[in-house]
Amino acid sequence: MRIGILGMGRMGQALAGRLLEQGHDVTIWNRSPGRAPDLLARGAAEANDVRAATSGAKVVMTSLANDDAVREVALGGQGVLASLEAGAVYADTSTVSVALAEELARASKWYVAMPVLGPPSAVRSGQATYLVGGADQPAGALEPLFPGLSSRHIRYPAPAKASAAKLTVNLLLLDGLAALAEAFATGRAGGLDDDDLRRLLGDSPMVARGLQNRFEGVLGGDQSPWWTAALGAKDARLAVELAAAGGTDLPVTSTVRARYDQAAGAYPEADIAAIGRLYRH
Ligand SMILES: NC(=O)c1ccc[n+]([C@@H]2O[C@H](COP(=O)([O-])OP(=O)(O)OC[C@H]3O[C@@H](n4cnc5c(N)ncnc54)[C@H](OP(=O)(O)O)[C@@H]3O)[C@@H](O)[C@H]2O)c1
Repeated sequence: MRIGILGMGRMGQALAGRLLEQGHDVTIWNRSPGRAPDLLARGAAEANDVRAATSGAKVVMTSLANDDAVREVALGGQGVLASLEAGAVYADTSTVSVALAEELARASKWYVAMPVLGPPSAVRSGQATYLVGGADQPAGALEPLFPGLSSRHIRYPAPAKASAAKLTVNLLLLDGLAALAEAFATGRAGGLDDDDLRRLLGDSPMVARGLQNRFEGVLGGDQSPWWTAALGAKDARLAVELAAAGGTDLPVTSTVRARYDQAAGAYPEADIAAIGRLYRH
């Protein structure tokens, strides 16, 4: 299938690589060109602009940092929706607000929300979960991609639900990592060292599997970015705003969001696990 992928960050590159591996005809585009030379070496074509990446594609996907980026690339005068060919589907895999998912759904009946659960490595290995929100007509057209893309996808009847589902999961990850960092800080204050903490919590049922992946990172080890603290802060904010729109305050996540903002300021290139560094003296 001819597929255009816009946004060659960590996730966009992983997605394009997975689709190339499955034999699809992939055209990539990124705001800053030349970011994915290995994909070109593996057979992808690079387009100079959004319209060229969209031309002839049956599916166009975006993988972009935030609402502003998606709005610019999808809704602009030369954007995806203005360039999409008849019968083609636009799937946004970025994590964005429910309000933007609703706005895109109003703008086009060919739009599907498709946020991703899992890091770039899971996308590459086919282990990520895709949350697919949209009516049968556009969302069904993506079904042929899934056997090769991933072992798991969950369908929702509307884009906004897929976006809400993604933020629901991310809240648990973001708040959970902050709680893990504070548990470590508490243990250390009482004289436990890193090995004591590993023995105590390394396989404890109190630490969910999704947090175990970053256990060493929070402890202070590897913090190479799968997902930057700035993107984590963005998603905590989106969760707080979504709950507020429904009339509920999230005081814990509001505080956690401020900690990710602080981590992003101090360690701009680090993973969300860098929240652990804020507690080390
Ligand atoms: N990494 C993960 O583990 C993970 C997991 C699940 C979901 N996500 C979500 O997936 C999305 C992409 O994440 P990522 O980790 O790939 O991010 P990333 O590596 O930081 O890449 C961000 C991408 O967005 C582009 N971009 C930013 N602002 C733009 C604008 N105004 N116009 C056009 N392009 C713009 C960047 O282009 P330039 O190269 O030109 O800056 C880059 O291609 C995010 O919404 C993130 O929350 C990430």
